[in-house]
Amino acid sequence: MEKERRDFMGLGLGVFTAVGGIGALYAMKRTWDPLPSVKAAGFTTIDLAGAKDNELTVEKWRGKPIFVLKKAADMKKDPRDIVINNEHYHVSVGLCTHLGCIPAYKKDDHKFLCACHGGEFDVSGRQIFGPPPSPLVIPPFKIDGTKLVLGEEGPEFKKMKDAGLIA
Ligand code: FES
Repeated sequence: MEKERRDFMGLGLGVFTAVGGIGALYAMKRTWDPLPSVKAAGFTTIDLAGAKDNELTVEKWRGKPIFVLKKAADMKKDPRDIVINNEHYHVSVGLCTHLGCIPAYKKDDHKFLCACHGGEFDVSGRQIFGPPPSPLVIPPFKIDGTKLVLGEEGPEFKKMKDAGLIA
């Protein structure tokens, strides 16, 4: 009798966990819906025209997650920002520079948090707490109108590199 009750409770918990998991996946998909993009031969072209303030989108470039975040007017600007038509974007490889976990974006706090060992990055990808030794990496990029071509070193990327801003 007691065993049956426990089995029943176990089943209930399993269903609850599965439903929670699906909900979390759905929320993740919504947050991570990519911007319109084209991938070809090592390049990913992302159209930033549809990016929304303080909404993180995650693209893919050469198998790596790429964070794209358009900064709202009240968000801290940084020389590491990519600026297109006076709009500031944070774009980085979405892998923690400690041991490579994918940090989560906390939009209310304007921070990336890495759940693995508690590392934190600000909205410009600079490490501000915990073990990460360096900022989130900015991938090679070229600006083409409102589009960003990842995989190509354009003049803006080279300028950042020369200024020592590329980790
Ligand atoms: S992998 Fe991110 S803090 Fe360790």
